[in-house]
Amino acid sequence: MRILVTGASGLLGKTLCPLLDEQGWQYWACNSKIFDITNTKMVSEIMNKISLDFIIHLAGYTNIDQAEDNPEMAYSVNQIGTRNIANIAKKHDIPILYVSTDNVFDGKSDKPYKTTDATNPINVYGKSKLAGEREIIKATKKHYILRTSWLYGAGGYVDAMLTFSNFRKEISVVDDQIGCPTSTHDLSLKIIETIKENKPFGIYHVTTSGSASWADFTKKIFELKKRNVEVNAIDKSDFPRPALRPKYCVLDSGDILPNWENSLSEYLAAKK
Ligand SMILES: NC(=O)c1ccc[n+]([C@@H]2O[C@H](COP(=O)([O-])OP(=O)(O)OC[C@H]3O[C@@H](n4cnc5c(N)ncnc54)[C@H](OP(=O)(O)O)[C@@H]3O)[C@@H](O)[C@H]2O)c1
Repeated sequence: MRILVTGASGLLGKTLCPLLDEQGWQYWACNSKIFDITNTKMVSEIMNKISLDFIIHLAGYTNIDQAEDNPEMAYSVNQIGTRNIANIAKKHDIPILYVSTDNVFDGKSDKPYKTTDATNPINVYGKSKLAGEREIIKATKKHYILRTSWLYGAGGYVDAMLTFSNFRKEISVVDDQIGCPTSTHDLSLKIIETIKENKPFGIYHVTTSGSASWADFTKKIFELKKRNVEVNAIDKSDFPRPALRPKYCVLDSGDILPNWENSLSEYLAAKK
């Protein structure tokens, strides 16, 4: 199995790539320096020279707040870059797996979003990721679109909170934004399972089950690690940010992953 992995240097890629090694699969791990997906000419030149069986497309412009001020950059990576990568999949007639986001929804629902629910992004990041989904769907039927949310893994939010707890005893965290914290390890295993089992092509929601606010999530991190940090629950309006965030963005993933608390507990247990 020869795989192109874009975004290999990111939060998710860093967890996924060692697990691809364990499968014995050959893969080409790319970041923006060695393979800029927005450079249409370069992408097509390189891709004419190599032979592939599968594309895992993780590369993305992921800074939600900065995307509001830099929509061209967000669309350049998330739409045009994704179109370039999708066209390779089409040309070589190979499957492509694209990781998308809960931000394609507006968060106004009161029940978990199904894959068939209408999308309606409320920030530039979500709009550009949805544009990426559409490029993939337009280019090839052989696609997997995995929507996920609130990823944490080595060097991400959970680790940042543990470092924070070494220096501070109090933190304010928003309590009126609800989602599904999902570990990059759990998602990576699902990516591998999807490829190995030749699952039917289409859109999937892949998150842990249950739901939490950022304040719930943060409290649980400190509780499980026995860190004495007071979490003050605040409203989003007390912490204005450039990009709107969907208020309720729980994805209905059919309980394919464990409850978020169990996953978090496993992640923390594996840390020193
Ligand atoms: N993190 C989350 O909570 C979350 C939630 C839902 C969905 N997602 C999606 O999951 C995917 C992976 O997220 P992540 O958190 O791992 O992202 P990340 O840590 O921000 O990493 C982004 C990756 O994309 C690469 N990249 C950016 N611009 C590029 C370009 N022009 N050409 C080639 N590569 C480029 C980066 O390479 P460099 O290192 O060279 O910059 C990096 O490897 C993204 O598509 C994101 O939209 C993430």
